[in-house]
Amino acid sequence: MIDTIVLPPIEALTAKDIVASLDLVAEIDRLRREKNAVILAHYYQNSTLQDLADYVGDSLDLSRKAASTTAEVIVFCGVRFMAEVAKILSPQRTVLLPDAAAGCTLEESCRPEEFRSFRESHPEHIAVTYINCSAEVKALSDVIVTSSNAEWIVRQLPQDRPVLFAPDQHLGRYISGKTGRAMTFWPGSCVVHTQFSVSALEHLKAQHPQAVVVAHPECPEHILAYADHIGSTRSLLDFSVKTTAAEIIVATEPNLIHQMVKAAPGKKFIPVPGASGTCNGGLSALCPYMALNTVEKLYLCLINGAPRVEMPGWLMQEARKPLELMLELSPPAKKQ
Ligand code: 13P
Ligand code: SF4
Repeated sequence: MIDTIVLPPIEALTAKDIVASLDLVAEIDRLRREKNAVILAHYYQNSTLQDLADYVGDSLDLSRKAASTTAEVIVFCGVRFMAEVAKILSPQRTVLLPDAAAGCTLEESCRPEEFRSFRESHPEHIAVTYINCSAEVKALSDVIVTSSNAEWIVRQLPQDRPVLFAPDQHLGRYISGKTGRAMTFWPGSCVVHTQFSVSALEHLKAQHPQAVVVAHPECPEHILAYADHIGSTRSLLDFSVKTTAAEIIVATEPNLIHQMVKAAPGKKFIPVPGASGTCNGGLSALCPYMALNTVEKLYLCLINGAPRVEMPGWLMQEARKPLELMLELSPPAKKQ
């Protein structure tokens, strides 16, 4: 695996250099102006990071923002594959990631060398790859998709070619069911979305009989079967605002609820609990990778100019092709 992150130098500031009296929010504001930086945050970041960001969005929204920004520096409050996408689509920008270890189980499940063999053993297939993967896996793919454009893009693929879908088998199965396209799946799954149980969901539905259920398509089929709406984080947010239901059971990472409450303050949002003893040892289904980013680390990465995404030119060039095809085949962007 190619390491795409440049760590801060030995002499860089660390958490122990931050004095308790420092107003971190004011400092982050000063640094973002001084360095001409834009802060992008995914909906799974903690609420403080979301509120500090210039833009909050799902993977597709944030890819588009990264591709179109004129800022010199992009600070990506999200996970590594998202920051890599920002660098690939905006190579002239400096791209910072507050915590270098912010990975993703889907990315980890799909090693480039194994993915290469998977492709080689299916030479007739089109490789449709979920954006939650490494830059190297993107470089080996024909087209990238996110949870918000996958169905739209798969419907545009030539009918006479079989499809490989990697790395999330649950999203793949869901899209295959929606489009009627047979697919061969990579056996990956997300640690957050595979921990929801039918019994916890049924319990919540019994407690809130009027509630509707929204679910991310990374959830397995047995959870999606209960959903009134399935979609990307952005789509779950939009649906929750529009629905006439006053109570919404949310089967995804619970930080999304921060934006739901802001957009529809009169409604009740109920997170489906995670499996006890897994993510962060608690009942909340937090993404352990997203949770690595903090306000302190955001401040430090702006000061230090690292952790920073860097990758070889050939890799950026090869990974850009399926990403640009994704942007070309995507539905028009909705206003935020
Ligand atoms: P979205 O593209 O729906 O924001 O999903 C990203 C993700 O990592 C879900 O686990
Ligand atoms: Fe990866 Fe799952 Fe975390 Fe999304 S929620 S970043 S898919 S581990």
